[in-house]
Amino acid sequence: MATSRQQLMDRIAELKKEKGAVILAHYYTNPEVQAVADFLGDSLALAVKAQSIAEPVILFAGVHFMAETAKVLCPDKKVLIPCPEASCSLAESCRAEELARFKAEHPGHLVVSYVNTTVGVKAHTDICCTSSNALQVVESIPAEQPIIFAPDRNLGSYIKRLTGRENMLLWDGACHVHEEFSLEGLRKLKLQYPEARVVVHPECRAAVVAEADFVGSTAAILDYCARSDARRFIVVTEPGILTEMQKRMPEKEFIPAPGAEAAGCNNCNYMKMVTLENIVSCLENEGPEIEMEESVREAAERSILNMIAIK
Ligand code: 13P
Ligand code: SF4
Repeated sequence: MATSRQQLMDRIAELKKEKGAVILAHYYTNPEVQAVADFLGDSLALAVKAQSIAEPVILFAGVHFMAETAKVLCPDKKVLIPCPEASCSLAESCRAEELARFKAEHPGHLVVSYVNTTVGVKAHTDICCTSSNALQVVESIPAEQPIIFAPDRNLGSYIKRLTGRENMLLWDGACHVHEEFSLEGLRKLKLQYPEARVVVHPECRAAVVAEADFVGSTAAILDYCARSDARRFIVVTEPGILTEMQKRMPEKEFIPAPGAEAAGCNNCNYMKMVTLENIVSCLENEGPEIEMEESVREAAERSILNMIAIK
């Protein structure tokens, strides 16, 4: 007989106690995964939260680079990942050895990498950033200092436009989810709901960002919608965030923007690989677990701590 959703949730609660585990989950995961999380957040908030967890085990309900970030910051903890195959197209678009070669070809550049990267890439990075703090990170660097910004060309060009900074070399990577929002589909929705506010994640293409009333990370989008007196929003980011939006603001309406022609909602297939079933199995087996070489971890830690130090 199939195990019900409630039975799986009860089993997770039992296992969390037995193993001394805390579940961190990203806003893009499935609603039932968000429901078993002890802490839900965007990539910056989750990285910061990982540092203050007292329990010996962290189960990361999200994609691989996020669990790696938690392990980098909490080397003494067991960091579990229910689905290690849950990758990220941005992380995949930049390999550590390619970045090392690019750095060697551009001496004198400081490397700023988006947190959506592998631990190997972070080890070659001077300062990490997330979509929440990319602007502050770049603004903290003296204007005359040339920068390599990896791997998201959309976030990079958005920051370039905001800062007017010409000395930023952009890596040619992108998120397959955010790149595929349909400009035509978004414009149709705007005509249909002219009073709606358009909120956009900066991983989207410049033409889509140009349609926005507000551009920000998932956490910043949530805050904007909560503060705004508008009642209706067109949401141009992964639709998993709608679960938290509706929970926090049941009186408001959130309309997911369409993906590429006829593709419907633009789900991140990697985030949706985390399920209640694989969380149960991961807690029962205390694995798969994130492991890495200590020298790589230490180098990556510097770049993440440099980011966290920038308020
Ligand atoms: P944030 O959580 O920083 O908004 O990033 C979104 C994302 O695409 C996560 O992979
Ligand atoms: Fe990576 Fe894009 Fe999925 Fe975020 S939404 S995890 S950037 S593939």
